[in-house]
Amino acid sequence: MTQKNFNQPLKTVDSALFEAIGREHRREEEGLELIASENYVSQAVMEAQGSVLTNKYAEGYPGKRYYGGCQFVDQVESLAIERVCKIFGAEAANVQPHSGSQANMAAYLALMSAGDKFMGMSLSEGGHLTHGSPANFSGKLFQVISYGLHPETHRLDYDYVRTMALKERPKVLVAGASAYPRIIDFKTLGEIAQEAGAHFVVDMAHIAGLVAAGLHPSPIPYATYTTSTTHKTLRGPRGGLILCTQERLKAVNSQIFPGIQGGPLMHVIAAKAVAFGEALQPEFKEYQKQVLVNAKALAEELMALGFKLVTDGTENHLMLVDLTQTGDGSVSGKDAEAWLDLAGITVNKNTIPQEKRSPFVTSGVRIGTPALTTRGFGASDMKLIARWMDQALKTKGDEAALKKIASEVRELCLKHPLYPHS
Ligand SMILES: Cc1ncc(COP(=O)(O)O)c(C=O)c1O
Repeated sequence: MTQKNFNQPLKTVDSALFEAIGREHRREEEGLELIASENYVSQAVMEAQGSVLTNKYAEGYPGKRYYGGCQFVDQVESLAIERVCKIFGAEAANVQPHSGSQANMAAYLALMSAGDKFMGMSLSEGGHLTHGSPANFSGKLFQVISYGLHPETHRLDYDYVRTMALKERPKVLVAGASAYPRIIDFKTLGEIAQEAGAHFVVDMAHIAGLVAAGLHPSPIPYATYTTSTTHKTLRGPRGGLILCTQERLKAVNSQIFPGIQGGPLMHVIAAKAVAFGEALQPEFKEYQKQVLVNAKALAEELMALGFKLVTDGTENHLMLVDLTQTGDGSVSGKDAEAWLDLAGITVNKNTIPQEKRSPFVTSGVRIGTPALTTRGFGASDMKLIARWMDQALKTKGDEAALKKIASEVRELCLKHPLYPHS
């Protein structure tokens, strides 16, 4: 062995790293994780991701690689593809995107050239950076027409989307969101795309787990390409995927490799395959149902305590608090995030419709239930959590009061252990 300690555990060879990971482990165990885009993967998913597959180069696709020794990683990738197609009723899949952003880039480049026009939901109204933000490749490479929410209902403005699509004739209409608490009508958006002569791309990153469980309408029958992350409600490792018909596969495959990425992360693809296997089990549907029950319970209790939620509720796994209409209206998203953090409750600041503050400050917080539901928290816990959130915001940042809440939070969390301590 050329390296001393090659076969030794991290604990003995690199205490700085071991301890930093340990601190994060403790943070995840002892706090309430309410970031809507996060989740906890199973021990099996982590085991696959920490496997020897991290050593392997496998540029290309199963059966057509640019490297030798790919017979076993071919089995891994084929299993991931077969399982994800079964979950979503899709004909074909690419499971190599390193992230949701790369999945979107590949879908766009399979359908458009630089300078072409597409329509996407604006970041400030709930869309994602990759849906046309000027700060992102999507806004730099293409001409973007943004759509958003109805100014009064704060729900997706389908009439506006239709009017703009017919006027602007984009090559692609992109649907999907990062901070939208309502069902998205993919059928109507797909029909609008068709009327306008555009391709329809759906980024179902946030709601993929709900779609997998049949608890949110599926975009698959309407979209040319459906993209997703694998790490949100779908509860897999960090990464992306693309679903399409067999006919559309070649174009997007060549955009992922050799277009955007080099060698696939085979250890992550193995972890995706494990997570997809889990999503095919009946318990996964029960889990997703509970995600929705918990979101509704949390939303109702928050509203009963005087919190204003955008659209006055939720139909999915997340909700958006409008802090301008909560309490005395003076608390910013940035303050709320920081104070809740001190109370052991993790959320993220978020813009609200017609936001007046900068994206670094914001007037809202986004809250989601996928992670806590994985830990086994139920509707009665949500009520307690809502009350802690209310108390935390009312402290106006008083550290002693926030620490007191954090110790109660910790006590509850320790009743729901996550992973065995190493
Ligand atoms: C709707 C949506 N699409 C894409 C992404 C990007 O995923 P990634 O962070 O893996 O690039 C996100 C991430 O938050 C998202 O919410």
